[in-house]
Parts: sequence; structure tokens; C-alpha cells
Amino acid sequence: MVRVVGFLSILASATLAVIVVGGGSAGSIIASRLSVNSHVSVLVIEGGPSHENEVDLTIPYIYPRTFHSRFDWNFTTVPQPNLNNRTPIYPRGHVLGGSSSINGMTLNRAPASDWDKIATHTGDRSFRWENMLKYIKKNEGFNRPPNTLEYANSYDPSVHGFNADKI
Ligand SMILES: *[C@@H]1O[C@H](CO)[C@@H](O)[C@H](O)[C@H]1NC(C)=O
Repeated sequence: MVRVVGFLSILASATLAVIVVGGGSAGSIIASRLSVNSHVSVLVIEGGPSHENEVDLTIPYIYPRTFHSRFDWNFTTVPQPNLNNRTPIYPRGHVLGGSSSINGMTLNRAPASDWDKIATHTGDRSFRWENMLKYIKKNEGFNRPPNTLEYANSYDPSVHGFNADKI
């Protein structure tokens, strides 16, 4: 079942209407970036429910509770020969925010060396860490830990973004 989130009426007055199928991380970012242009109306279609006010999606590391729930597509892998042909679960988000909504609020943006390897393998220098960092920071709303001795030097502010929610 597909649930439509948004207002069809706004599309009628738009210069350009874009329909984004899938409200996961990629679809949401695309919709957000497109909607910066006031002449573009964006409709996001997501198969799952909203993530808003869902306790299981907002408590760090409680994510196993989302497996085989209404927030999960309930996929399994193909039979794995090296696992005696078992078919492990492969949780994928069936909810606004997609799999990023069922990941226990973790963030892994990969080390600089991985980004540089991607640039080397693709032959596209724009994937180098030094080029990607500005986008990574733009997407991050890092919360500084308390200014106490316990957290002294626990993070490097030069590689974090602090204003993602203000974009
Ligand atoms: C996944 O399984 C749960 C538990 O059976 C169910 O409630 C949910 O609707 C299923 N998800 C989808 C996308 O069908």
C-alpha cells in the first residue's frame, strides 16, 4: 500500500512539480534540495508510516525492536552458502527516513581514506574527502558534549557540522 504524504493542491499552482518516490534518506534529501526553489513543488510518496513521535525510532540503539515491525520491509537475504544456506534478516526501513530511521540513531560517514579510495576507483576526484567534507558538514547537526573534563578533546570541531537543522 502506498500512502501519500503531502498536499496535491500545491502541485496545481506550481511552475514545476516533482514527485519523489520514496521518503528515505536519498528521497528526502532530493525533495529538500529541490524545494529550496520556490517555483518547484515537491510531493514525496513513501510506502511506510511517518517516523514522527515514534519512540522505537528515537531511542539510540533500541533499533532491534524495529526489526519485523511495521517499520521494516521484512527482507531476508538469499541463502548464504557459508551460513549453511540460512537466509538472515535484512532490515530495511519502511518508514519516512527509510533505513536511516531504523538504524538506532547511528551515523557512520566513513573515514577519509575510504572516500579517497572511492575517488580513486571511480576516477572522480569530487569524491575525495577534502571535497566531500563540506557536504558531510552541511548535513550534520552535531551536539557538542558538555564542556567538562570527561569530554575534553573528545571530538574535532573542524570535521563536524553544527547547523543542519537550520538549513
Ligand atoms: C513486517 O512484519 C511485521 C510483523 O509481522 C508487520 O507488522 C509489517 O506490516 C511487515 N512490513 C511490511 C512492509 O509488510
